Amino acid sequence: MTRENHSSPGNAAARNPSRMHSVSPENTELVDLVLDYSRRRMLASDTPLDKPETEAELDRLAAGALTEEGIGASSALALFENVLAPACITTDHPQYLSFIPTAPRKAATAFDLVVSASAVYGGSWLEGSGAVYAENQALTWLAHEFGLPATAGGVFVQGGTLGNLSALVAAREHARRRVRESGAAMPARWMIVCSAEAHSSIASAAQVMDVDVVPVEPRDTGSLGSEGVRAALEEHAGSVFAVVATAGSTNFGIVDDVASIAALKGEFDFWLHVDGAYGLAAMLSPLARPLFAGVEHADSVIVDPHKWLFAPFDACALIYRDPEAGRQAHTQHAEYLDTLTQTSDWSPSDYAAHLTRRARGLPLWFSLATYGAGAYREAITAALRLAREIAHEIERRPHLRLVRQPQLSVVVFERDGWLPADYERWSARLLGEQRAFVTPSSHAGRTNTRFAILNPMTTLDQLTGILDTM
Ligand SMILES: Cc1ncc(COP(=O)(O)O)c(C=O)c1O
Repeated sequence: MTRENHSSPGNAAARNPSRMHSVSPENTELVDLVLDYSRRRMLASDTPLDKPETEAELDRLAAGALTEEGIGASSALALFENVLAPACITTDHPQYLSFIPTAPRKAATAFDLVVSASAVYGGSWLEGSGAVYAENQALTWLAHEFGLPATAGGVFVQGGTLGNLSALVAAREHARRRVRESGAAMPARWMIVCSAEAHSSIASAAQVMDVDVVPVEPRDTGSLGSEGVRAALEEHAGSVFAVVATAGSTNFGIVDDVASIAALKGEFDFWLHVDGAYGLAAMLSPLARPLFAGVEHADSVIVDPHKWLFAPFDACALIYRDPEAGRQAHTQHAEYLDTLTQTSDWSPSDYAAHLTRRARGLPLWFSLATYGAGAYREAITAALRLAREIAHEIERRPHLRLVRQPQLSVVVFERDGWLPADYERWSARLLGEQRAFVTPSSHAGRTNTRFAILNPMTTLDQLTGILDTM
């Protein structure tokens, strides 16, 4: 690690408290350096997958980064480029197929720099009306795609976990108000009904809220239907404040039977929340849209633009059918905030469990404005098609077995005769050879592996090449 010698930073800082903020040759040079690096990274088509490094090795190479005098921008950036970035798996790589990947569009990634450069405060209309207006345009567009009324609205939060929590807090507040108004007694425990295959963030939200989860076994297809939900609602009458339907399960990409669950709203009083963090984006494609019938009846939905809507980390669109329910549950009150909250202005802080916020919906807005919605439909449709093609290929290979037919773009399969250790070794080898990032998973106690496909740069050849290594 070299020290820059064009300045003696410690002494300069002592003499000049505005050194870090002023428009100076030093800061001009560092902005150029960072923009040049970002430009190279955004336009590179051969960024390797990379892999995790041990803490000891990172200590050896980077432990001296933080000093009293500073090491200078070029040394710090070189450290990032040569040591730290290669120790981070490239999540937008076409052969990153684990968990739920990300594949931000060029426009969205580039615009993320603009969001930082513009120092926008995204929490209140007073401070960020232009940004809030644009974010709301994107939310209204999503709400329309999901069949929600034009009055629906919400906020972009950090991720699906916070989106689910915020929606469920609003749901419980709504239920409490209803019980108070009716004069009835509050239930001893509030409950959330969801599929046993719902995402772990629902259990996490329940723990934070100190409420119970009633897990309902889905049908054999993996899809939760009204029969299981009805039984749970009857068993726990008066205690269930929300039913969560998953629109694209994380493990399998299976969509619950939202229409049949929504139909129960005529008989039972509950808030229907649709967790579409990964899958709801597929509603944009005519190929998958029919699977999502019933979403239009939801009281709240979430979808993560950092998943299948091609925005950079981190963004979750949380949309309420009646945004007032979100506002009543989440507005923070304090003397210094009265100027923001004692108006009818739309302030995003009021719609989730947060206050200060980055205008993290802007990269999606810019990308949508740039390319148009049609480009999204095409890219999402391409992933759906590719998932079907590779599922067909898996069925053709005698030593492989599809665990379930894919509905969206997650393809789960087993290799005959493999034990967990075989999957582990194979996965490590793929990453070691920088070929692909495909991790083992499991279902009903059996180890399997899965391709989670959403990057339009992923090809059938790449996927069949991976199958050839099994
Ligand atoms: C269905 C579902 N819900 C919620 C989440 C949590 O989202 P996040 O990781 O953005 O908190 C995920 C993450 O993969 C998901 O797949």
